Amino acid sequence: MKNYTPPKRLLKIGESATLKAAEKARELRARGVDVISLDVGEPDFPTPKPIIDTAYKALNEGMTKYSQSQGLLELREAISDNLRKNFGLEYLPNEIVVTPGAKMGVFYALTALLDEGDEVIVPTPAWPSYFDITKFVGANPVEVKSGENFELLTDNIEKAITEKTKAILLNYPNNPTGIVYDKKVLENVAEIVKRKGLWVVSDEIYSRLVYDGEFTPFAKIEEMRDRTITVNGFSKTYSMTGWRLGYIYGPKNVIKEILKVQQQTATHPPTFVQKAAVTALNECENYVKDMVKEFRIRRDTFYDGLRRMGFKIHKPQGAFYFFPNAADVYHEAERFSEHLLEKAGVSTTPGSGFGVGYEKHFRISYATSREKIEEAILRMEKFLKT
Ligand SMILES: Cc1ncc(COP(=O)(O)O)c(C=O)c1O
Repeated sequence: MKNYTPPKRLLKIGESATLKAAEKARELRARGVDVISLDVGEPDFPTPKPIIDTAYKALNEGMTKYSQSQGLLELREAISDNLRKNFGLEYLPNEIVVTPGAKMGVFYALTALLDEGDEVIVPTPAWPSYFDITKFVGANPVEVKSGENFELLTDNIEKAITEKTKAILLNYPNNPTGIVYDKKVLENVAEIVKRKGLWVVSDEIYSRLVYDGEFTPFAKIEEMRDRTITVNGFSKTYSMTGWRLGYIYGPKNVIKEILKVQQQTATHPPTFVQKAAVTALNECENYVKDMVKEFRIRRDTFYDGLRRMGFKIHKPQGAFYFFPNAADVYHEAERFSEHLLEKAGVSTTPGSGFGVGYEKHFRISYATSREKIEEAILRMEKFLKT
C-alpha cells in the first residue's frame, strides 16, 4: 500500500467518542456477552408508521430525483408552521435550509461563520462533535466549564472572549447533561453576545424532549434573532436517526451562504425522505407526546436508581441523558465506564470526550426500554456493592 499522510486538517480531528463507546459494546455482544447499551443517543422507538408509509408512497410516485437544494418548499413550509406553533418563532421558508442531519447543520453553520483561526466558545460538558467540527473548519473551540450542576457560568464565558471570538455554541436541552437553561440565564448570555458583537449557534435538536420547566429558543430572546443560527432535526423528536434529516434557520444573509455550502457538498437530503418528514411534522404530534411521556417515566426511574446508588446528581429537565460524576461512588472514577462494561455488561460513554475536566463523569442514555433500564440499575447496584 502506498504511504498516506492525511492532510493537517484531518490530523486535528478524532473519531467520534460516542460512536466508539457503542462500537465496543457491539463487539462484546458479537462475542456473546449480554450487554445493556446505555451509550447511543438514539431513541429506541420505531419511526412512526405514517412517516414510513409516506416514504414508500413517495418512492413509488417517483420522488427519486433531485429537488430544490434548500429543501422541498412543502417541507420548509411545514417547518415554518411548526416553529410558529410550538415556539412562537417566525421564520419564512426562505430562512430555512433542510440538511442531511443536524450534525451536518452544525458543520454548515460553523463553515458559514468562521474564518481560519477564529474562536468559538463552547460551554462544557458538550457534545464532542462540536470540538472536532470547529477544528475541521480551521477554527478553535474554547472550552468554558459549567458549574457544579452544569449551569452556564456567564462570567467565565465573558472572560474567555478574545478579539478572535466569533461565536458561542449553545446546546439545550443539553447532551450530555439534560439541562435546559432558563430564560434569565439566556438573557445574560444575550447581553454578552450583543455587547461583544458575537454570533450564536444554538443546537436545539432536543427542544421537543422537555419534561420539566419551559424551553426558550435562543432566537426568541430579545434582539437575538438576527444573531442566531439554530440547528434542529428529526433524529430525536421522530426517532428518525437513520433517515439523516435536519434543518437550520437563521437570518437570510447567513442562510444564503449556508445554502452555498449545501449546494457544493450534499446538494440536498434525499427527496423522498424530505417528503416523509412533512408527515412527521403534520401528522405525528401524538407520537411525540407519547414518547415524551415514556421518556419522563424512564428518567424518573433512572434518577431514583442513581440517587439510591449515591450519585449526587440533579434531575435533568430534558433530552435523554444523565452525566453523573463517578467519583461520588467509585474510587477509580476515570475508569468507571470501562469497569462497568467489563464487569457488569452495562455500556455507557466515558466523560473524557465531553470536555476537559469531565474525565470522572460518564454519560448514560436512557433511550432504551424500561425493562433494560431496570436491569441496568440492578447490575450497577450489584457492581458497586462488590
Ligand atoms: C446535541 C446534538 N446535536 C446534533 C446531533 C446530531 O443529530 P443528527 O442525527 O440529526 O445528525 C446529536 C446526536 O446525537 C446531538 O446530541
